[in-house]
Parts: sequence; C-alpha cells; structure tokens
Amino acid sequence: KKLFIKTYGCQMNVYDSARMADALVPHGYVAADRPDDADLVILNTCHIREKAAEKVYSELGRLRHLRDRRRARGGDMTIGVAGCVAQAEGRAMLERAPFVDIVVGPQAYHRLPELLHRRARARHGVLDTDFPLESKFDRLPEEMATAPGVSAFLTVQEGCDRFCTFCVVPYTRGAEASRPAAAIVAEARRLVEAGAREITLLGQNVNAYRGEAPDGSVWSLARLVEALAEIDRLERIRYTTSHPRDVTDDLIEAHATVDKLMPFLHLPVQSGADPVLEAMNRRHTADDYRRIVERLRAARPDLALSSDFIVGFPGETERDFAATLALVEEIGFAQAFSFKYSARPGTPAAGMRRQVRDAVKTERLAQLQALLAEQARAFNDAMVGRVLPVLLERPGRHPGQHVGRTPYLQPVHVEAAGAAPGRIIDVVITDSHSHSLAAAPVAIADTEPGAPSRDLPTCA
Ligand code: 5AD
Ligand code: SF4
Repeated sequence: KKLFIKTYGCQMNVYDSARMADALVPHGYVAADRPDDADLVILNTCHIREKAAEKVYSELGRLRHLRDRRRARGGDMTIGVAGCVAQAEGRAMLERAPFVDIVVGPQAYHRLPELLHRRARARHGVLDTDFPLESKFDRLPEEMATAPGVSAFLTVQEGCDRFCTFCVVPYTRGAEASRPAAAIVAEARRLVEAGAREITLLGQNVNAYRGEAPDGSVWSLARLVEALAEIDRLERIRYTTSHPRDVTDDLIEAHATVDKLMPFLHLPVQSGADPVLEAMNRRHTADDYRRIVERLRAARPDLALSSDFIVGFPGETERDFAATLALVEEIGFAQAFSFKYSARPGTPAAGMRRQVRDAVKTERLAQLQALLAEQARAFNDAMVGRVLPVLLERPGRHPGQHVGRTPYLQPVHVEAAGAAPGRIIDVVITDSHSHSLAAAPVAIADTEPGAPSRDLPTCA
C-alpha cells in the first residue's frame, strides 16, 4: 500500500510527518511521492495564519475528485487530515467534509494504525483529537522508516503555555510538554548513526524545555545541548523556536561554550512597540529584547539573528509601527519572517477593538519587508571573500556541485567535485545573492569532517 503525506507549515509538521510514516510502514505502507496512486493520503495541516482551514477544505475537494476517478477504475483511496487544522476543526471537519476518513490531532499520531483499523469497520469517518495522558513519543516506533538527511529535526518539546493573544498554538498543540532527555539523546544517536551531521531541536517554545534527566533531575535546554554536543560525528546543533522570555542565563552561556551550537538564532520579537507587545501578552518590552540580544552577542560575537514580525496587530498605530522599524534598524537581522496580523478563531486578539484595515497592513508589511530584505542582502554580501565551514547537504544542479549551509544557515552552492554529502569543508565565498551564496572549496583534502575552520568568522 502506498502512502503520501503532504506537509504544510512548520518544521515540527515535517518531523511529525516522518513519525507518521514510521508508524505506518510496519503496517505495510511504503512512501509514495505523489498522491495520484497512493492508497492513503494524509494532509498534515497548519492553522497558524489566514484562511488555513479554507485552504484545507479546497485541497480535500481535489482529493475527493482524485478518489472518485480512482473508484471509477475499481481502485480506492483513504483520506486523512492531521495537524493543527484537524485539531482545531475536530468533528466539524467530518461534518463539513463527510468523505474524509480520518481526522487526527498532533497528539494522537501513535494511534494512526488503530484509527485506520477503526475506519475500515466504521460507516463514517473517525476522529481522534484528544490530548491523551500518555505521550505519543512513548508510543511511536523507534525505528526510522525514512532516512534522515544530513540535517535532521528532532522534537524535544511540544505545546505552549505562553498564550500570546494572536496565536492558536496553545489550543492546537496543547500545554507545554518536554520529552525525557534520555529518549532525546538516544534518538539523536540513531539519527547520527543514520547519517545526520546536524540536528535542529524543535519545540513550539523550545527554550522552555524542562526534561526529566537520567539522574532524576530536570534538564534545561542548555544542559540538553551540552549532552548532545558529546555525540561523536554530530557536528552542528541548532534549536528553534525560542521565546525571548525563556532565554536563560545558562542558555546564553551555552552559546559561548558549546562550539557545536551554531551561531544563528531564530528569536521572534513580533513588534518593537511596548503597547503592542503588551496587548500581545508577550510579557517583555522592546528594551528587554535589546538586552537579551546584547548578552547573546557578548557570549557569541558572530551570532546572527532571525525573527518573526506581525504588522497590523489590533491597535497598532503608525508610531508603534515606526518603533518596529527602529528596532529592526538597530538590531540588524540576517533573516526574518513577517506577516500581516490575521484574526484566528478563538484567540483573544480576534475579538479586540481597533482592528487595523487591510490596506494599512499591506502598506506596513511592504515597508517592513523592504527593510528586512535589505538587511538580509547586506548580511549575505558581507560574506563574500570570507572563509566559512560549510556542511554539504545534497547534490546541486550539475555534477560536482553541492548545496550546503554556512553556520548562519545560508544555503551555499559549492563547486567541489569529489566531496561527499555530510562533510564539512572550508570554502571561500565567491558571490552572494538575496537568498543564497556561491563558494569554492579552500582545500578539500586536508579538512576532515568537523575539523575546526582555520578562519572562523568573528563579528564585523
Ligand atoms: N497572524 C499573523 N501572524 C501570526 N503568527 C502567529 N499567529 C499569527 C497571526 N494570528 C506568526 C508569528 C509567529 C509565527 C510562527 O507566525 O510571527 O512567530
Ligand atoms: Fe504562539 Fe506565543 Fe506560544 Fe509562540 S510563544 S507558540 S507565538 S503563544
């Protein structure tokens, strides 16, 4: 039986899709790369921004047609919906799209085989959007059905207790829960064994990680990173996504002391205006954010930052927006994501007065994106001529070309015939584009994987 999973949204969904495949492969499924001839199609959905549910329903309509055509030819197809839209819609999804077979929330993926079984015997679609007491991580198989790439994801924490007033995550992913440290270290070892050289630790609020340790104590994210850094052949560690309020002293310290922890951090600020931050329930001010960045940069002078921004949050004035632009100017981001505020059903901000007109949001977004694009470009341009260690991830467009990443997560095209994916090689950056770099190897032969770079970048 063929399985096709279409993934939307964040990296945690990418990770979850792989785990769903792991759970289904022992039940006779093999991964397909198109929905057309798949026996089971799962949409792993995202609810974070505008019209999420509507887009899922129209995609479901297309799948239904595909299934009708297959049935006309004597075949069949099971249609499942997973992820945050499944969680948020729940039973309403089975009512509105009764042709859907399975609706499964992010905390119930370990029960997929059982759901398929139940579906086969039921006359209607089946639903599982409970937040079970047992952790799905204790139940999902350890064997990997899908090989990880050179750069792998690993969920260490899920859910969020912060309740920013714009955000659906606390409702769709539930309360914060951390996986035990031993399970994470074991999974990291398996990933490295299977070829991963870089691991990105995932969590909705990853730096709120508080995991049970082997000795019965509680480990912070910093302590976990230190433990993972001891794994041989694991060369690079990253984590995402962080909340400024949970940037602890020991985490800042880890950026100074753990070489494998990469000098690139995604630290969403959302806005540079205190009244907006307060209305968002972010529980920090713009100056708090400045101070955290200052301390991180003192610990790791070459740290590059990325962030998320929302424009047009209810009540955002021109002055507030100007404060956001000022913060961006001041901090300087290597990369960023920015969005127009969209009212999400069930969140406090959706009911706030002084919603901002769409034309205003559009205008502000364009202005902010222009500034962020300029900064991203300047950051890339500043790399030209520098020597950087690049982790080769996959073959490029023509023979001899590789695509890799710098420590700052920039994609790099390297002409390096003979080099193998999974190696870290020193390259000299020859050219910069808005979203990637071009490079030539300095010397492949004498650079072993993981060997320290001769010319590690320092702050300009
Ligand atoms: N409207 C716009 N952007 C949002 N985000 C989360 N919720 C909303 C919303 N309702 C953005 C935030 C968050 C990122 C993942 O998505 O910037 O950090
Ligand atoms: Fe949403 Fe805020 Fe939690 Fe991030 S920290 S997932 S924005 S509630």
